[in-house]
Order: sequence, then C-alpha cells, then structure tokens
Amino acid sequence: MDPAAPVFRTEAVTRVYRTGTVEVQALRGVDLSLTEGEMVVMLGASGSGKSTLLNILGGLDQPTSGRVFFRDQELTRVSDRALTAFRRDHVGFVFQFYNLVPSLTARENVALVTEIARNPMTPEEALDRVGLAKRADHFPAELSGGEQQRVAIARAIAKRPDVLLCDEPTGALDSVTGVQVLEALNAVNTELGTATVMVTHNASIRQIAHRVVRMSDGAIQSDERNPHRLAPHEVSW
Ligand SMILES: Nc1ncnc2c1ncn2[C@@H]1O[C@H](COP(=O)(O)OP(=O)(O)OP(=O)(O)O)[C@@H](O)[C@H]1O
Ligand SMILES: [Mg+2]
Repeated sequence: MDPAAPVFRTEAVTRVYRTGTVEVQALRGVDLSLTEGEMVVMLGASGSGKSTLLNILGGLDQPTSGRVFFRDQELTRVSDRALTAFRRDHVGFVFQFYNLVPSLTARENVALVTEIARNPMTPEEALDRVGLAKRADHFPAELSGGEQQRVAIARAIAKRPDVLLCDEPTGALDSVTGVQVLEALNAVNTELGTATVMVTHNASIRQIAHRVVRMSDGAIQSDERNPHRLAPHEVSW
C-alpha cells in the first residue's frame, strides 16, 4: 500500500436535506482527500456539515451530487448492499454517546462485533489496546464515561477497520477522561495505522492531529498540516 495514497477522496460533494418544502444545503461542494494512516481533526460551527460529511465518508449516507471514493472503489456508484459491505469491512464508528448494550459486559459488547467480522482481533486484545484489559468483565454501568467510550473504541477497532470515524468522541467527557479517550485513539492510529477522522467542537484537540480541516457553511474553509503535534496529555483543554 502506498502510504501517500488517498484512503478517501471526495469530488464536489453536495448534500441537500429536504423536509417538506424546506431545503437545507448541508454540503456545498466538498473536495477532500484523506491520506492512509492520517489523524485528521475536523472543526467547524454547529450546522456546518461535519456530521453529514462523516456519515457520507462512512457509507451511512449518500451525497445528493458529487463523487466519493474509498481507495479505488467509487462509493457513489455501488449498490446499497455493497455500501453495507464497505461499512462492515472497512469502517469503525465512534459517536458522542457510547451506545453500549447495558446488559452485556465490556468483553461481550466488543464480541458483538468480533463474532461477525472477517479478521477480528480478540475482544481482549481490543480492550487491551485502549487500556481496559482489567475491565473486561465490567458492565457499562460499572464504568466511567471515559471508560465506556474506550469500550466503544475497542468495539470499533476490533474488526481492524481501515478508517475510524469519530463524531464528538470526547463531547460528553471532562478533560481528564477526554484525554484518556484521545490517548486510546492516538494509540490505535499509531500502532495500527488506522486513518482517523475526529470531529470535535474542542479546538484544542487540533493539536494532536496530523492535519486540521475546518468546515464552514457546508464547505471546507481551511485544510492545514499541523507541523508540531502534541501528545494528548500535553493538550490544555
Ligand atoms: N436529517 C436531517 N434532515 C434535515 N436537515 C438536516 C438533517 N441532518 C442535518 N441537517 C441540517 O444540515 C446542516 C448540517 O448538519 P450537520 O449535522 O452535518 O452539522 P454539524 O457540523 O455536524 O453540526 P454539530 O456541530 O451541531 O453536530 C444543518 O443545517 C442541519 O440542520
Ligand atoms: Mg454533528
């Protein structure tokens, strides 16, 4: 695999939501290329289109116009079935609210994914990678918010996805637990080379990124490399 090759490429992507007679232009022509192994932080005001773009990259939604490529595959040309297969085989999602099954332990929550994946790690390995090996038998209610989010990350990475798409992963967390979650995401990116896009409202988090993309009113406002990456524990919140 060429390390400088794009993992995702979008061309003139638009997304219009129609509700009754009201139209919202959520994306207005997004051209973006994401490189293999990159950690990208995406910033932008509420309503600027960040989640819409993330959902399109992850195959949860399709653009109204424009093209989206994952490596050589044009996602905007494939069937729903192929799009589902793309999501299952290549994408891990992490959301603000962890969506763990309360009646299952951490290990069992991760096993929900490893049982249906093609080449998964064990639930134990996935939990170990986010620093939770010792919490495998705990139920979500017995874990802190940051620990629950790390279980959600373990669940997302257990299938060894090529890309990890995170929408406000620290949005519900205080700074100490937020840093632990960023450390887990950083470790996954460094150790497994998983290209990661992290949407956040917290501008300080841009300091851990390789690259920072800012969205404004459905378009990319700026797209810059970060020459001086900080470790998550060095970020002042
Ligand atoms: N399902 C939907 N139906 C109609 N409009 C929608 C829908 N989802 C999003 N929108 C609108 O599209 C625009 C972009 O929304 P999006 O959720 O992508 O923003 P965002 O940047 O993720 O915002 P936030 O930071 O608040 O999460 C907003 O104006 C929003 O109201
Ligand atoms: Mg959003």
